Amino acid sequence: MRGVLVTGASRGIGRAVARAFAARGDRVAVHYASSRAQAERTLAELPGEGHVLVDGDLGDPAAAERIAQAAEERLGGVDVLVNNAAVATSAANAHPVAEVSYEDWQRVWREMVDVNLLGAANLGYCVARRLIARGAPGRIVHIGSRGAFRGEPDHPAYGASKAALHALGQSLAVALAPHGISVTSVAPGFTATDRVADRLTGASGLALREQSPFGRVGTPEEVAAAVLYLASPEATWASGTVLDLNGASHLRL
Ligand SMILES: NC(=O)c1ccc[n+]([C@@H]2O[C@H](COP(=O)([O-])OP(=O)(O)OC[C@H]3O[C@@H](n4cnc5c(N)ncnc54)[C@H](OP(=O)(O)O)[C@@H]3O)[C@@H](O)[C@H]2O)c1
Repeated sequence: MRGVLVTGASRGIGRAVARAFAARGDRVAVHYASSRAQAERTLAELPGEGHVLVDGDLGDPAAAERIAQAAEERLGGVDVLVNNAAVATSAANAHPVAEVSYEDWQRVWREMVDVNLLGAANLGYCVARRLIARGAPGRIVHIGSRGAFRGEPDHPAYGASKAALHALGQSLAVALAPHGISVTSVAPGFTATDRVADRLTGASGLALREQSPFGRVGTPEEVAAAVLYLASPEATWASGTVLDLNGASHLRL
């Protein structure tokens, strides 16, 4: 029974990942930023015992340290970190280069890099250092994105933050292997969470489904199943990988 810290588990993919680990008997720290009621719902729905809540804004380096400390204390050790929390794309934070003001351009870049990249890097540092101190084998899984490879013309900071997250995972995989810690990433394509449900109706929904030759988008459970595998002892040899989860909607060499 391992201790698993899942960031951004108040909803969406993070909630499905928390459920998947709990269903296999692990103890989960359900992290959230501000959606306490939603995070409590995730917690209440988890099978098994010993799950806890932790909160904090990952855009704040001091909060990342507090999150790692709280999860360690409440779980009795974090063996698996899933860096899932992110400022995701929305109409409100679109910043197409040809249209957005320079002020908004800088604001969105700062927010996305602070949370999506630096938040994951800082939490990864804090968890890895505790694993090394305990001499415990560990797993770090990053939730990246297809957008890192396919491009995000309306949200370039998002695409860049996810490309950097993949690269961070590869550097950490090499640096942490001697300590028995594997680091991997998944790169999901469009995934049907509650947050994006409105985009799956009408013409936009049809266009999104047509991106994949399967004629559908992915599910949070499919992402969770891959994360579960990458965090398993059997997947040590996959360390350093970036696993595409996009229904053949974007192929890369
Ligand atoms: N859905 C997709 O189509 C898709 C595709 C590819 C990749 N992804 C990636 O998969 C992950 C989850 O996506 P999702 O669609 O499930 O996202 P979501 O529904 O927007 O949930 C985001 C989560 O991140 C947390 N979060 C946001 N800002 C934060 C901050 N400053 N500090 C700490 N936590 C913060 C949120 O907490 P609160 O609720 O408390 O605010 C929430 O739990 C993200 O990394 C996303 O980039 C998603």
